[in-house]
Amino acid sequence: MLSRILITGGAGFIGSHVVRLFVNKYNDAHIYNLDKLTYAGNLENLRDIENKENYHFIKGDITNQELVNEIFDKYKFQAVVHLAAESHVDRSIKNPNDFIQTNIIGTLNLLNAFRKHQTDEGLFYHVSTDEVYGSLGDTGFFTEKTPYDPRSPYSASKAGSDHLVRAYGHTYGTPYIISNCSNNYGPNQFPEKLIPLVINNIQNMKKIPIYGKGDNVRDWLYVEDHANAIELLFRKGKRNETYNIGGNNEWNNLDLVKTICRKADEKLNRKQGTSEQLIIFVSDRSGHDKRYAIDASKIQNQLGWTPSVQFEQGIEKTLDWYLQNKEWLNRIASGEYADYYKNMYKNI
Ligand code: NAD
Ligand code: DAU
Repeated sequence: MLSRILITGGAGFIGSHVVRLFVNKYNDAHIYNLDKLTYAGNLENLRDIENKENYHFIKGDITNQELVNEIFDKYKFQAVVHLAAESHVDRSIKNPNDFIQTNIIGTLNLLNAFRKHQTDEGLFYHVSTDEVYGSLGDTGFFTEKTPYDPRSPYSASKAGSDHLVRAYGHTYGTPYIISNCSNNYGPNQFPEKLIPLVINNIQNMKKIPIYGKGDNVRDWLYVEDHANAIELLFRKGKRNETYNIGGNNEWNNLDLVKTICRKADEKLNRKQGTSEQLIIFVSDRSGHDKRYAIDASKIQNQLGWTPSVQFEQGIEKTLDWYLQNKEWLNRIASGEYADYYKNMYKNI
């Protein structure tokens, strides 16, 4: 049994859901959360489990090889679930360097440290994205065999980290699993990403910026379904294999935003149409990928995983969470993020 598990990026959006699941499920294991606490990391996300005996937090930067080596030497992790990353495409367009440092060098540092202690039973689980496969036209799906074609600095950095993980598996026998997942949504997501940004702006009666025509398509998955898939693969996935994870739930951005507006009007007792009037069309994202859609039949056929939260239910849960956690949102949306937002959308 793997009893010393390192999770990186556990104070972030998806990481916090993964940490909670592992801490509650693996009572006999020690779960260590290594996080630098960048703008995207927030320990408030883990308040409910922070006092559990099997949970340990380590503040640290994965780009620091010395620190990474030190904690591996000290705790002798048998398994790693690696989520720490710079994760926002728009930020990567403005400043690619941090993405290369954290996503590529950070992953390299973890692989180097893990290799020193690795056993055949151990596991380096790398959490990655469907964006490594590039962009689809109106039809077709990404499978695990789709050739890599990353098109933003973010996706190129994630593709680089995926290649490194596979290369360590091939060259040094590092036991690994990689999963490539579609767009997540749910509680605790930073409001720079589309869904929480829309909810935040609706609450504050601020304009809702839609890039281009709003016809880009994403495949949305509720975050707890992603966390469950990661935990299942951690336990039962085949070593040195890749699995796609997706929601089978495609939406174009404009339809998605309009749906959120309608539901928010209901919940906020506003006249229908109030929130939709906030929508404005702004300049498109540079190199904006047209469509992502995942073929998740491998994880479904081999391990029986399918998303359990239907979109209707997931978006209700998400809206309710943000409406009930205004403080969380307000604290996050002030400070450094407020400056970022002002710069990003100068004209609105
Ligand atoms: P996030 O931005 O919400 O959280 C990232 C976390 O990593 C934060 O807690 C941050 O403090 C930490 N971090 C960043 N740089 C670090 C460093 N140098 N050292 C240590 N910690 C550092 O990200 P997220 O949306 O939760 O994504 C988590 C992972 O899942 C990422 O690897 C991302 O590429 C992948 N992913 C995300 C999505 C999505 O829709 N959000 C979909 C597929 C895959
Ligand atoms: O597909 C998985 C990826 O999904 C993850 O790897 C990334 O970490 C995650 O950030 C997400 O990337 P996207 O670029 O798809 O997500 P984002 O929420 O930034 O944008 C979703 C869509 O909405 C995209 O087509 C751009 C558009 N958009 C986004 C914002 C922030 C807008 O139209 N307006 C906006 O203000």
